[in-house]
Order: sequence, then structure tokens, then C-alpha cells
Amino acid sequence: MKTRITELFGIQHPIIQGGMHFVGLAELAAAVSNAGGLGLITGLTLRTPELLAKEIARCRTMTDKPFGVNLTFLPTVSSPDYPGYIRAIIDGGVKAVETAGNNPQKWMPMLHEAGIKVIHKCTSVRHALKAEAIGCDAVSVDGFECGGHPGEDDVPNFILLPRAAESLKIPFVASGGMADGRSLVAALSLGADGMNMGTRFIATKEAPVHENVKQAIVAASELDTRLVMRPLRNTERVLHNAAVDRLLVKERTLGANLKFDDIMEEVAGVYPRIMQQGDMEAGVWSCGMVAGLIHDVPSVKELIDRIMAQADDIIRQRLAGMAGA
Ligand SMILES: Cc1cc2nc3c(=O)[nH]c(=O)nc-3n(C[C@H](O)[C@H](O)[C@H](O)COP(=O)(O)O)c2cc1C
Repeated sequence: MKTRITELFGIQHPIIQGGMHFVGLAELAAAVSNAGGLGLITGLTLRTPELLAKEIARCRTMTDKPFGVNLTFLPTVSSPDYPGYIRAIIDGGVKAVETAGNNPQKWMPMLHEAGIKVIHKCTSVRHALKAEAIGCDAVSVDGFECGGHPGEDDVPNFILLPRAAESLKIPFVASGGMADGRSLVAALSLGADGMNMGTRFIATKEAPVHENVKQAIVAASELDTRLVMRPLRNTERVLHNAAVDRLLVKERTLGANLKFDDIMEEVAGVYPRIMQQGDMEAGVWSCGMVAGLIHDVPSVKELIDRIMAQADDIIRQRLAGMAGA
């Protein structure tokens, strides 16, 4: 399939694997890129720029296809070494970066001078237009359904994507709630040039996470996510567990007095325990409503081939048949 996104990134299928903390390592990024999509290494999962450089080199040994790096700008006081991470990306010859969390304007000249295409992930038309204005090459538009941080506007993709289409000139991918060929055709119909998936890619053979995480996603329904940290204006959609319930009780009890320090036990440093050790009650972890559409753990290639075959079938059979009638 050819869209503005496949052209921009030099990939076969308009499918991107979004950055995911402690999931988006070389194994998954390479598998997605080898299957014709764009895989992304999650920069900050590597604790230092040196470790990111090594992960990029490791990914290169696994694929000769284009892959990218996600750089998440955190709302924290002590900032990670972003210049160092960007240097590792440039020196590693990576040509695609997904930015998220905050406006990447400061880093755009460095990235563009190195010939890197920047796709910024945002949750509103307002932020997407800002990304376009500062020179981003594309945006990833994350609807309210998405796993991770859906922002504070709560606009689902059925509204957000056509709004993005009527406002933007640069290409964009639909993100949040995407699972299969139906999602891809719907996204294209609503004006997107492809789709970005997070949760769906965790439940794949190559995702380098504990089997418990994959099975938790397969077992979950669309009713099993919760929104946490809303009072801190740092809303995150996570899979329901006991830690989520404890956190929500704190939110209700402390109300407007809630501070990040109050919920450290549930959120800080929990990802390695969940993703690597499979301790599913260790804390809160991002998961999309799309879990309700995930029923198996295929290889990445099986998944992407299946998506493309289903999309093709919908376009050529189902829709073409209706249009001709
Ligand atoms: C476990 C998990 C971790 C994530 N970590 C990050 C991250 O570190 N940076 C980021 O920009 N997005 C992160 N995301 C968001 C994804 O890149 C993607 O935008 C989102 O999952 C799309 O929604 P979906 O899960 O419905 O496909 C994460 C999502 C999940 C499920």
C-alpha cells in the first residue's frame, strides 16, 4: 500500500509501532521493520545515551530496513540528557524520530540537519497544528481510546481524526484503538495516511516482555482500562489491577491536594517489574481499550500480513461491492 506515510519513511506498509517504555526494544522494532512497518526503539528505556547507541547498533544487526527512535519529553524537573540521546540517534544513522510528551521545537534544527524525519505524537488538533507549524514532517494523532497518555480533552478518534484531516497539511497516522485491517481502512477513510499501534504490538511473539503481560492483554476486555493521574493533569490509560484501585482511592481521598509523591509506590520504577519479571500487580502500566480486540499472540509478521490482507479484502470486496451496487 502506498500513502504519504510509506513515502515519507520509505516503508512498505503504513503501520508504525509507537514507542513503549520497556517494550520498544530492538527485538520488537526490528520485527516490525522487517515485516514492512516502521519499528521504534523507545529512547528513554535505555538509561543513558551510550546504552541507546548500543541498542541502535543491536537493532541494525537484526534488520536492514528503516527503523526509528521514540523520544518522550517528560514533565519532570530533572531532565534526561536529551542532547546526548539525540547525538546517539544521529550518530547511529537513524532517520526517523517519534517525539512525544512535549513540544520538540528546540530539537528540530538538529534533527532536520541530520536528515531525520520527525513524527510528533499529539492528542489534540491544536497540538497537531503546532507540530505542523514548527516543521514536523508528520503527526501521530492519539485519540481518547489510546493506551498511555490520551491528554485531557477526551476526544475519541471518530471525531479527532476527521478534525485533524480538515486542519492539517502534513500527513498523519491514526493512533489509539488500532488493531487490525478494519482499523487501518477506517483510519484511511477518516483522512489518516496510516496507523500507529501500541497495545496490539505488545501481544506479539517478538515483544520482549514477560508472557504474563501478553496474556493479561489477551484476557482483558474493552472495559478493563482505567484513567489515572487525572488530578495531576497527566492522565494515563492503564490496565485495571489492585495498584490502580489503590491509586484511585488516593486520588479520591486527597482530591486537589494530591501530589506526585503520594503515588510514587504505584507509578515510579514499576515498568521493569511488570514487563520483565511479569509481576502484574507491581504498579500501573499503560494499556489501551483496544485490548478488547486482541485475542491472540501472533508473530509481528503474521499480524502485519493479516492486517494488510484484511484491509485489502475490505477495500476490494466489501466496500467496492457496496459502491457498485
Ligand atoms: C505499555 C505502553 C507504554 C508506552 N510508553 C510510551 C512511551 O514511553 N512514550 C510514548 O510516546 N508513548 C508511549 N506509549 C503510547 C504508544 O506509543 C501509543 O501511542 C499508544 O499505545 C497507542 O494506543 P493503543 O495502545 O490503543 O494502540 C505507551 C503505550 C503502552 C501501551
